[in-house]
Amino acid sequence: MKTIISLSELHATRRDLPGPVGLVPTMGFLHAGHISLVQRARSECASVVVSIFVNPTQFGPGEDLAKYPRDLPHDLALLDAAGADLVWTPTPEIVYPPGFQTWVEVADLTKGLEGEVRPGHFRGVTTVVAKLFNGVRPDRAYFGQKDAQQAAVIRRMARDLDFPVEIVVCPTVREADGLAMSSRNTYLQAEERQAATVLFRALSAAKSAYERCERDAETLRRIMREAVTVEPLARLQYVSCADYETLEELETVKGKALLSMAVYLGKTRLIDNVILE
Ligand code: PAJ
Repeated sequence: MKTIISLSELHATRRDLPGPVGLVPTMGFLHAGHISLVQRARSECASVVVSIFVNPTQFGPGEDLAKYPRDLPHDLALLDAAGADLVWTPTPEIVYPPGFQTWVEVADLTKGLEGEVRPGHFRGVTTVVAKLFNGVRPDRAYFGQKDAQQAAVIRRMARDLDFPVEIVVCPTVREADGLAMSSRNTYLQAEERQAATVLFRALSAAKSAYERCERDAETLRRIMREAVTVEPLARLQYVSCADYETLEELETVKGKALLSMAVYLGKTRLIDNVILE
């Protein structure tokens, strides 16, 4: 496994990589969710490239950029064991050199959900992912269903801007008690960690109602709201029952839909979702 930092070295190394080339973009502090993307890429691609970059432009003013967890030696050991070929760890100065002023923005898909409560977040995500695509020129890029809106926004961007890359979305990896794995789980105090299962419990309750033929979207949202409200350590930010493609809020669930939510446990903000098919 090779580790590189500069763009010129990336370009030189990329030239000799056998295709198809798979890219797994990450912000590091890797866990089994990230590694599942690397394994999927390993099984489908001749070369696997992983990027590790804590992207400053996708963090809002009051967010956790400064304290975002980092552990590069551990990340590299996990990636080596998972069979990655190349790890690119650019610095902020390489990704955003002096004078940088060009942004990629997906319009409608970023208006609701995470986009509504984290203004500017997706502009940072799409800009950095466009740059990662231009640097690595992957044939396939792997993203997690955990960040459902991010996956939808990137799929849209790739289509709209003619990036010659196939976007592959992989299932959410969970802890044994249902909590979706996330680098931010490390912020949770012991009691908050226990209470954090409320997201998956709420989503599962609404999904069960759907499976019992409940199709009224507001009823499904109410089931999720009520499940979160009974957990004293949890503070609900939003719940959503939206169309899977457009992410617009639904009145009635007809086709494929997405149940999603954002919840605070203390100062830690967690998101999760499940798909209704
Ligand atoms: P990060 O949060 O590090 O996540 C990297 C990738 O891992 C994303 O595609 C995310 O959806 C996926 N992932 C995270 N937790 C997961 C889980 N429990 N199961 C499955 N996949 C999971 O998402 C980002 O970084 C950034 O926004 C990035 C795309 C790298 C752009 O900066």
